[in-house]
Amino acid sequence: MASSSSSPVFFTILAFLISCIIFFLSRKSKSKRLNLPPGPPGWPVVGNLFQAARSGKPFFDYVDDLRKKYGPIFTLKMGTRTMIILSDAKLCHEAFIEKGALFASRPRENPTRNIFSCNKFTVNAAVYGPVWRSLRRNMVQNMLSSSRLKEFRKIRADSMDKLISRLRAEAEANGGVVSVLKNARFAVFCILLGMCFGLEMEEETVEKMDQVMKTVLITLDPRIDDYLPLLSPFFSKQRKRALEVRKEQVDFIVPFIEQRREALLNPGSDKSAMSFSYLDTLFDVKVEGRKSVPSNSELVTLCSEFLNGGTDTTATAVEWGIAQLIANPEIQSKLYEEIKLTVGDRKVDEKDVENMKYLQAIVKELLRKHPPTYFSLTHAATEPTTLAGYDIPTDTNVEIFLPGIGWDPKIWSNPEKFDPDRFYSGKEEADITGVTGVKMMPFGVGRRICPGLGMATVHVHLMLARMVQEFEWIAFPPNSKIDFTGKLEFTVVMKNSLNAMIKPRS
Ligand code: HEM
Repeated sequence: MASSSSSPVFFTILAFLISCIIFFLSRKSKSKRLNLPPGPPGWPVVGNLFQAARSGKPFFDYVDDLRKKYGPIFTLKMGTRTMIILSDAKLCHEAFIEKGALFASRPRENPTRNIFSCNKFTVNAAVYGPVWRSLRRNMVQNMLSSSRLKEFRKIRADSMDKLISRLRAEAEANGGVVSVLKNARFAVFCILLGMCFGLEMEEETVEKMDQVMKTVLITLDPRIDDYLPLLSPFFSKQRKRALEVRKEQVDFIVPFIEQRREALLNPGSDKSAMSFSYLDTLFDVKVEGRKSVPSNSELVTLCSEFLNGGTDTTATAVEWGIAQLIANPEIQSKLYEEIKLTVGDRKVDEKDVENMKYLQAIVKELLRKHPPTYFSLTHAATEPTTLAGYDIPTDTNVEIFLPGIGWDPKIWSNPEKFDPDRFYSGKEEADITGVTGVKMMPFGVGRRICPGLGMATVHVHLMLARMVQEFEWIAFPPNSKIDFTGKLEFTVVMKNSLNAMIKPRS
């Protein structure tokens, strides 16, 4: 939760007083009590909000503790928001596959998020309906289909070369030590920027764009008034700041949109323009129920979604992946052997990945053990329904605690062990899309499954393969043990950001 400069004690007392008033007023009007899943008792209206904040734990650890006590479906009252938290594979299959349409919506947004999502005009935030259908269809069919993805092979190959030379230069300047997350993030961001705007950008522009996106993500951090809207008068400074950040974002990105528009109108005029981009699909996208094409501000939002959806998630997976390869040198050697056997002396190409079964097993195990986000995006029911015998009203946030599934000892042997052999040997299997059964769901499952799944897995496979082909990865400081504690930073990254020693392979 974002910190506020005002005293937490003051807010606690104020929130308590307000909550008591509302509690007593609302009690009278609630004729029928809902049968919600169990959960920890909380205060009237503020519910469990302060218990969560005061637990001193990251929210995902707080939830992990509670699910052990309250089971695979439980309720948390976070101020005016009711969260129902699922952490069981069968329940997720029932909700998102069997009753897919019923659980396919998104809850109302807080006012800050509404500013940045242009009132839910994005694939990820749109409620289940015509706007979502149109935007998602456009993204999936016109941009992320396997044939479209192939068109961007060159961007990926170039970014991989750039990643390797950046790592080499950083190591040379830094006694052999490199930062993994920062470099992986930069590489994937370059790919997504090229795909999104269809323009080649200077490194400085890429850095600036990254900074703008990061500022937006920080501004979107939840605040206490998201849960207790009555406190919003105390947050006018933050609201003003959010509007400023939005303006900075629009002012920075619109010129690139105009540059691309111009390049399409005058083919051949812009030497930095590529043949196709996500923006091209958006300029005249047909959205059911709307007559107009997206405004520039809406285009900024849709492009930002594309960039944000795929950058930190992918880079986080690569960071945990390299950490595991360092902690398990025998796995790293086996992977290197597979790379040499498959491609010999040339560079790994993305087409090689289909012949690299051990690499595939490593990536699957990585996504099971370290899902980049511990919670899927929040779902909401399209109409009042039930799950596991409990009521699920439409105005509740349905959250999915993903490690609860990927780490479940009922469905995995030795789930705490990083063991690609479980997949490589064929002893265990999992359908990552969840269609034939849910055992792990790092990309969600069902109608809202991540549309970037295919592209993201190509990126993770390719990055790990190239990084291991070019360098041997070793702990820094030498012989130190890797700390696998995570911390929430939009995705769950390593608490101690991974710095590693690299030795070029001969
Ligand atoms: C390793 C990388 C990635 C991971 C782990 C990941 C994970 C997820 C998850 C858990 C969801 C929520 C699914 C749900 O609502 O149940 C999601 C949704 C989404 N992701 Fe990804 N994602 C990744 C990469 C990408 C990429 C590369 C893109 C596109 C450029 C992308 C775009 C989206 C979008 C637009 C949604 C919203 C879908 C909808 O609401 O219909 N993601 N992703």
